[in-house]
Amino acid sequence: MRQADYSEGKLDGEDALQKLTSLTNGYMLSSILFAAVDLKIFDIVNEKPRSALEISSITGCASEGGMQRLLLVLVNLGLIDAGPDGLFRATEVARKFLLSDVRSSLVAGIQHHHRHAYVPFRYLGDAILSGKPQLGRNGQGAAGSEDLYESLAAGTGEYEIFMRAMNSFSVGVGERMAELVEFPLEPRIYDIGGGGGQVSLELVSRLPGSRVTVFDRKEAIDYARKHLAKHLGDQLECIEADMFSLGAFPKADVVVLSAVLGDWDEAKRKVIVENAWSQLKAGGKLLISETLLDEDRRGPSSAILLSLYVLLLTQGGHNFTPTEWREFLGAVGIDEIAFIHDHDNGYRDLIVCSKPLG
Ligand SMILES: C[S@@+](CC[C@H](N)C(=O)[O-])C[C@H]1O[C@@H](n2cnc3c(N)ncnc32)[C@H](O)[C@@H]1O
Repeated sequence: MRQADYSEGKLDGEDALQKLTSLTNGYMLSSILFAAVDLKIFDIVNEKPRSALEISSITGCASEGGMQRLLLVLVNLGLIDAGPDGLFRATEVARKFLLSDVRSSLVAGIQHHHRHAYVPFRYLGDAILSGKPQLGRNGQGAAGSEDLYESLAAGTGEYEIFMRAMNSFSVGVGERMAELVEFPLEPRIYDIGGGGGQVSLELVSRLPGSRVTVFDRKEAIDYARKHLAKHLGDQLECIEADMFSLGAFPKADVVVLSAVLGDWDEAKRKVIVENAWSQLKAGGKLLISETLLDEDRRGPSSAILLSLYVLLLTQGGHNFTPTEWREFLGAVGIDEIAFIHDHDNGYRDLIVCSKPLG
């Protein structure tokens, strides 16, 4: 579905102008949210109602005037309330999504967009002209590498922000897999590029007797071991491994590639899928979680925005239609494929690839 329709007959002047103005000003709105999250405004006013002066002092603000302006914009946006006592409070939406430590928190995702994607997006025109990522422009946080994961690893704390963001983007993905796919009893599952472990944790919680292994780079595994500490044991483990040269492990019933393949060019994607496929038993399943593009490539909006995000942040990453996935997987020798469209339910879509028996 399109985000807006400016076609003749629907081009009501006011409406079109309003939409174009919000497109023009969109960067200001993002910046307001980024600043408020960085300054922990929502956590601060959620602890107890506070005045602008108190908030300025807690955040180490040199001038109360600037803080007052930011707070009033946040009130205007409905993210905080100002009482007749002149004190600011968190609204329900902020309490649900904008506090640092609630399950439904969007904070890590917001920080990731701010620190890793916002500056590259400023150079979108250059990326379109050159066809090259603009990650190196990201002086803040991620260092000057054009490889997303090397760049995150080079910055202090950046990998952890990315892992926390991915965990929040992946909430529900493992649960949906457990609901929508038939798993054998007590399955052995490999989650390759499993990141902070959100998908693995959901799988292990939903599938009694399952044994799940997260494979990822050292930086991710360090974070996952910390984050999953109280769940680690016989059923859930984390192993440092390179998905381009995975070692030999006992064959798995199910291999998961969640939000992994869209980051790489075709040659690298092929190596990852071949490695994942080779870890599977005959009759096993490869589950690929990605956001599918519509066949006409005009939507959904999350997928087309993501296709620009990977243009800017990765070398050759892309989003694909079901037909393109079928062609790509077919070329790797994977033919038994089913697509589960889950986007309208608020989850990534699922591609289920079955390995023939014998
Ligand atoms: C977009 S994240 C997805 C994380 C997780 N699967 C999820 O759905 O939340 C991609 C993951 O690929 C991992 N990755 C990147 N390069 C890798 C490599 N060479 N070997 C193993 N994992 C890698 C990253 O560390 C990251 O955790």
